Amino acid sequence: MSSSMYVEYRGLLLPPGAHNAESLEFAQNFSVEDSDVFVVTYPKSGTIWMQEILPLVLNGGDLTPIQTVVNWDRVPWLEETRLAQVVDKLPSPRALVTHFRYSFMPPSFRTSKAKVVYVMRNPKDVLVSSYYFHQMATFLEDPGTFEEFMEKFLDGRVFFGKWTDHVKSWRNAELGDRILFITYEEMVQDLPASIRHISGFLHRNLSEEVIQKIAEHCSFQSMKANAMSNFSLCPKEYMDSDKSPFLRKGIAGDWKNHFSSEQLARFKSVITKELEGENFSLPWSLD
Ligand code: A3P
Repeated sequence: MSSSMYVEYRGLLLPPGAHNAESLEFAQNFSVEDSDVFVVTYPKSGTIWMQEILPLVLNGGDLTPIQTVVNWDRVPWLEETRLAQVVDKLPSPRALVTHFRYSFMPPSFRTSKAKVVYVMRNPKDVLVSSYYFHQMATFLEDPGTFEEFMEKFLDGRVFFGKWTDHVKSWRNAELGDRILFITYEEMVQDLPASIRHISGFLHRNLSEEVIQKIAEHCSFQSMKANAMSNFSLCPKEYMDSDKSPFLRKGIAGDWKNHFSSEQLARFKSVITKELEGENFSLPWSLD
């Protein structure tokens, strides 16, 4: 696998700048604490949404983090250069995020009791969201046509590799009650129910009032209006929201506006084949 602009790390393509040899070494040597909570996602599955929700669940609904700290410092990426600069300022319990597959996690993660909230999104919508993201993010390759981009996505010639490899690695990780699988679609459908679920998983037992408050402040509209969360503080040379906003549509099913019937058949057949023989099934139909 070769690509002109990405950093290659153990066969995985990573965007340059935010990832370099030092940040990847820092991630491998990172000392995970038992109380840490990791948001784990394949890119474009709802990462920044969980960067909004998780700190509020952990702190009982205090809005200070989402009002005063930009999301990339509030819940930093394990693999990115920024982590080394902010790690000492993270409140406890710490919330971190990663796009890594399970096999890329640091050794200290395996021996810890740290928890994982794994957000999965229908891969058809992941593809569409990623297609627009590649148009606005200058640290990603030009996606070409939707058809061309779909082929790259299915081949894993995109940042963080194949969607199926990501899902398989975490589904098969056997972390027992250390991992909660949640879907983007259930969050869209009933955000308070998802927050209740996460709160229970983390033994927070938040009141109904706090759950409603968190849901309100983590809605698509609230996040779009929040400079700490909408990437308006990110220089235009990295992300150009005139081309496509980071918080783009925030819905389930936008794939219907993009896939031809031939593309749908091809997408379904490749993903189905890659998941053949796995002992889990996807929570959505790929039809
Ligand atoms: P769309 O491009 O389909 O709108 P990630 O954070 O993993 O990069 O994922 C980005 C996707 O999550 C984008 O999808 C974005 O709009 C969506 N998203 C972020 N916050 C959201 C929210 N509060 N409600 C619904 N969707 C949200």
